[in-house]
Amino acid sequence: MEIIFSRVGVGAGTQSPPDMSQLRQYALPEAPQPIESVIQEAITIFSHRIRMDHPKFFGFIPSPSHPLSWLGEVISSLFNAHAGSWLQSSGPSSIEASLISFLAARTGLPVETSGGIFVSGGSMANLTALMMARDQMLGSQEERMRGCIYVSEQTHLSIAKGLRVLGFMDRQIRKVPVDSKFQLDINSLGKAIEADRIAGLLPFAVVASCGTTNTGSIDPLNEIADLAEQERLWMHIDGAYGASIVLSKSYSHLAGGMGRANSISWDAHKWLFQTYGCGIVLARNKNHLMDSFATDAEYVRDAVAAEETPNFWNFGIELTRPARAMKLWFTMRVVGLETMGMLIDHGCALAESAEAELKRLEHWEILSPATLGILVFRYAPVSWSEREIDELNIAISKKLLAENVAGALTTKLLGKIALRICAISPELSLEEMVRIITKIDETAISLL
Ligand SMILES: Cc1ncc(COP(=O)(O)O)c(C=O)c1O
Repeated sequence: MEIIFSRVGVGAGTQSPPDMSQLRQYALPEAPQPIESVIQEAITIFSHRIRMDHPKFFGFIPSPSHPLSWLGEVISSLFNAHAGSWLQSSGPSSIEASLISFLAARTGLPVETSGGIFVSGGSMANLTALMMARDQMLGSQEERMRGCIYVSEQTHLSIAKGLRVLGFMDRQIRKVPVDSKFQLDINSLGKAIEADRIAGLLPFAVVASCGTTNTGSIDPLNEIADLAEQERLWMHIDGAYGASIVLSKSYSHLAGGMGRANSISWDAHKWLFQTYGCGIVLARNKNHLMDSFATDAEYVRDAVAAEETPNFWNFGIELTRPARAMKLWFTMRVVGLETMGMLIDHGCALAESAEAELKRLEHWEILSPATLGILVFRYAPVSWSEREIDELNIAISKKLLAENVAGALTTKLLGKIALRICAISPELSLEEMVRIITKIDETAISLL
């Protein structure tokens, strides 16, 4: 089957700023309008956006969603199943349970005990996992006050947000330094745990990343798992971006040790090419999800669940929930695992070819090499000051976007402002990637 990702229209550039007075007019729902004109209004409204799914948009984590995911979403919406309980949606629930088992097995989690649930995205997956960690590791209110959790300097902001939602204070979060590869430094982690124990605090969890947002780095998962076991800590892996690598044909070895985690976050709306609203949280022991989230009431008494017939409302925060697993199931069922793996591999190859091309050109400095499809680099002419180089790279990024060459936004690494690309679109060829780098180089030169 031919895979068509193409979109018509402009590239990565932002649209002109919306005329707010016009949009405000559209927002008013009182008077009925002809459907044709409301469709036109919707097109106008949505034209004011960055195309996160455009092959040349490399900012944040892009979402090159697969057309089969759109179709899967439309079909799910058509049937509008309530995927909270087995009684209401035994079909979609059985697919969700089986797909979760399949994905968990790919990460290396034990098939007999593991489970999980589809959620709206990585932030919700992290929150759900952190709640399990808190409930399993810190029994009393007094323990919760003394608990401390370890993240790296590169850990995603949603972890801090989730901890805040759960009532933890910033003082309970330890930011462990990273090494030269932007991976959590295991020695510093060990020392931080030791210092906290001496201070009478209660280390309870460590968050490792499989694919940090900034550089794509993967923390030393096996070493962290060893230390977590030794110190009796809950190990959560934020794989919102990078967990998909376990399905890759050529790079899955990078995620070795993943199956030793207690919980894993994984976003299908990132590197599994799904439309938004499709994340997954996996638990080593699915009963831990039930411990945190299962509740009961008289009015749900008819929706009895057993292990083989789960009520997903007992696995997470939501009661009413859409059948989020179905679009991923639909996509994977049509394309098959092998093609999915090749699509993921392609992202790694894109960033690698961009890096190779930059290395051939003058004045380009690689701050973080191609890792899981992410590359951080900057134009750094000799004899320019650090401040001038920072400003130049900001200007390059703005010009690339304004001229629709590419959406290569900036980030800060090692105190330096740099360009960052996250290149995971299966629609972008390696040749086109090289051409984009040439254009980025020309843009930099034009600004000298
Ligand atoms: C590593 C990582 N974790 C968590 C998240 C949060 O995911 P979401 O935006 O789906 O809530 C992101 C989003 O970019 C991410 O890159």
